[in-house]
Order: sequence, then C-alpha cells, then structure tokens
Amino acid sequence: MPPRAVLVGPMGAGKTTVGRILAERWDVGMRDTDHDVEAEAGKSVQDIFVDDGEAHFRALERAAVSRALAEHEGVLSLGGGAVLDPETRVALSGHPVVFLRVGLADASKRVGLGQGRPLLLGNVRSRIKTLLEERTPIYESVAAVVVDTDGRAPAEIAAEIATRLEEQP
Ligand code: S3P
Repeated sequence: MPPRAVLVGPMGAGKTTVGRILAERWDVGMRDTDHDVEAEAGKSVQDIFVDDGEAHFRALERAAVSRALAEHEGVLSLGGGAVLDPETRVALSGHPVVFLRVGLADASKRVGLGQGRPLLLGNVRSRIKTLLEERTPIYESVAAVVVDTDGRAPAEIAAEIATRLEEQP
C-alpha cells in the first residue's frame, strides 16, 4: 500500500506537526524524509550541509523519498526542498500529495531563528521570502490537494486534509 498522504511545503508550513496529528487520527505511522536521511548519514541535516554540501544532501534525500514512497503506508512528510528534484516529482505522481501553503509572516513565525535549517542562515525572513517565491509553483504542480495553513491550528489543518483526501475518488 502506498502512503495515505504525502505532505509537501516549505519550512514552517507545519508538515511535521500536522503529519503527526493526521497519522494519529488515521492510526497509521508517520515518517519524515529528513529523519530518514539523518539516520542513513548518522548526522544531522545541518551537519550534512556543512560537511558534505547541499548536492550530497539532495542525493540522499532523493533516495530517501523513493524508499519511503515504496515502503511507507502511513503519512509521509518530505523535506521542504525534496520537490526540487525532477525524479522525485515524477515519483510523486499518482500519490495523494498535499501542499501545506503558508505565507511569509506565518512561516517566519513558525521557524523562529531558523535553527537547524542551513538554508535559512543569514536573514531568515528574506531567505524564506525567496524560497516561497521560487518554490510555490513547484509545490502546486505536484499537489493533488492544497490546504491553507495561515492563522490556523494544526488540528484544524489535519482535519481538513483528512476530509478532503477521504472525498477524493
Ligand atoms: C530544506 C528543508 C528542510 C531540510 C533541509 C532543506 C529545504 O526540511 O530538508 O534543511 O530546502 O527547504 P523541513 O522543510 O522539514 O524543515
């Protein structure tokens, strides 16, 4: 069985928090590709970026997504940049991909100082702004369902995802 839901969206969209609630609601497991990459590499995402570079991280991430799509039957959350990879975008087609949309203000609030997120080093708000502008069309292109998260509680977002995916043919 493929994943019941695959959550995509930028850092600060709430993928991990919402994913956990959704998994609990459905009584299924929750898996997160950042976590899989860290387990495989034996170090944090931050350390992989610093020691080995972003390209190496992206290669590990591509493999982690492909494995998780094949193995995981519950809720799967992808790292914010996973959809940049063309092979990953192809692999996602046909899956119940949910884009958690978030605006600059809420994303900035949720990531705080951006600790542990190497791509936000420097000016967190302006980095998020650029990433949102560059990536929103990509998230939209892979998503079966788009859910707005601004100003909403994680439980409410999870409930909307469940209802909308349950309605899908
Ligand atoms: C990244 C998002 C992070 C993590 C890495 C790069 C990105 O995941 O994969 O720091 O490119 O947006 P989260 O979206 O889970 O924070």
